[in-house]
Amino acid sequence: MQLALFDESRVESPEPQDLKTARSGTFVDNMALPVHRWFRYSAGFAAAWVGQVLDDWQIGAGQIVLDPFAGSGTVPLVCDTHGVKSIGVEAHPFVARICKAKLSWDTSAERFAALANEIAAYQAIHKGQVDPYPALIRRSFEDETLVTLDSLKNAWLALDDRSPESELVWLAITAILRPTSTAGTAQWQYILPNKTKKQVLSPQFAFQQQVEIMKSDMRWMQARIKGSRAEVFAGDARSLSDFVSERVDAVITSPPYANNYDYADALRFEMTFWGEVAGWGDIHDKVRKRLIVSSSQHSSRERLKLEELLEADEVAPIRQELAEVTGQLATVREEHGGKKHYHTMIAAYCRDIAQVLRQLRRVCKPGARMCWVIGDSAPYGVYAPVDRWIGELALAAGFTAYRFEKLRDRNVKWKNRKHRIPLKEGLLWIEG
Ligand SMILES: C[S@@+](CC[C@H](N)C(=O)[O-])C[C@H]1O[C@@H](n2cnc3c(N)ncnc32)[C@H](O)[C@@H]1O
Repeated sequence: MQLALFDESRVESPEPQDLKTARSGTFVDNMALPVHRWFRYSAGFAAAWVGQVLDDWQIGAGQIVLDPFAGSGTVPLVCDTHGVKSIGVEAHPFVARICKAKLSWDTSAERFAALANEIAAYQAIHKGQVDPYPALIRRSFEDETLVTLDSLKNAWLALDDRSPESELVWLAITAILRPTSTAGTAQWQYILPNKTKKQVLSPQFAFQQQVEIMKSDMRWMQARIKGSRAEVFAGDARSLSDFVSERVDAVITSPPYANNYDYADALRFEMTFWGEVAGWGDIHDKVRKRLIVSSSQHSSRERLKLEELLEADEVAPIRQELAEVTGQLATVREEHGGKKHYHTMIAAYCRDIAQVLRQLRRVCKPGARMCWVIGDSAPYGVYAPVDRWIGELALAAGFTAYRFEKLRDRNVKWKNRKHRIPLKEGLLWIEG
């Protein structure tokens, strides 16, 4: 078996300019790093860039960093490697569980490996079944693979003792679902059961390999760092002050963009395998309605009303411009077959982000610094200057200054793009 031990000498140090542009929507840079690589998730930034910001801001051991949209935990994990205390908040319950599991890298590698062995042994003598699984899962695996995955799952369920080690084995099983699936599982994207891939790993091999990687990363981290100083909450960034009790010095984050990517649906495949959702319809109640509105599926399912959204006190600082843009969207949608609810999506996005900024003002120390990685958007080709709006909403929430630094252009490459409005992605620096 090829052992993918982490070899520090093989990770090249990026040049400072690369660090900036390395904020990667594909998470690729992080897949070379211990612990970060345990699960591939969307739109994480490059860990090296987060480390650079901590250094530039001279964040040290006595300070606290917050990521209100923590995802799979890039920011808290980098804070661990810098010996900095951190708080991560993530509203997607399945993603928050992955994040928490990763941040228990400081638990016993031996106990984790022993439990994984026990589970592998149990799996080898208890045959699994394919019948209990819904069509999405049946269509995504060879029967033989699914039988093994089912028996791994049952072994985990039988031996789960709610310990951090048990959660790590849960993560190991979760992480091998895509590499063992025959379905098109474009990285972290939605699953595509109608597309098949030829090269898949056998589940026994994938599990063993994943456990070896995790064990070696745990040892690597433990040999260098005392322990995790991160606290992760499965909660809503719009009510941060309910659970963040200490005042924070700095915020590094990447919120969902108002670009219609449906985070709620991103891990439907994994959630369906574990029986946490039965299908697409379940996703809204169990996940989407906990998240900020950033997709038209969300705004349409919630039957949001544009007039009410525009009246919300939170959007007052940008109301006039927001009304113009969303008014245009309300008209333009009538010309499109899908009649997507982008008008309410954009208005609700601004309201929700404003709520988060108000909460951040409450939990941040005076003079705190924030960096948000953000992108603007142009649904149906109607441009929404989200970067400037977030800056204005930050000022209204009580921060004193903002500055947008463009990192890259978007929507310039693809031939099949739906409109030609130039878009950008960059860093919104906020302070006060
Ligand atoms: C761009 S991703 C962040 C990725 C992260 N930087 C990482 O390292 O994986 C944005 C995250 O915000 C989460 N989110 C959406 N609404 C939220 C809310 N109201 N409170 C907290 N997190 C939320 C999404 O589930 C998603 O995981």
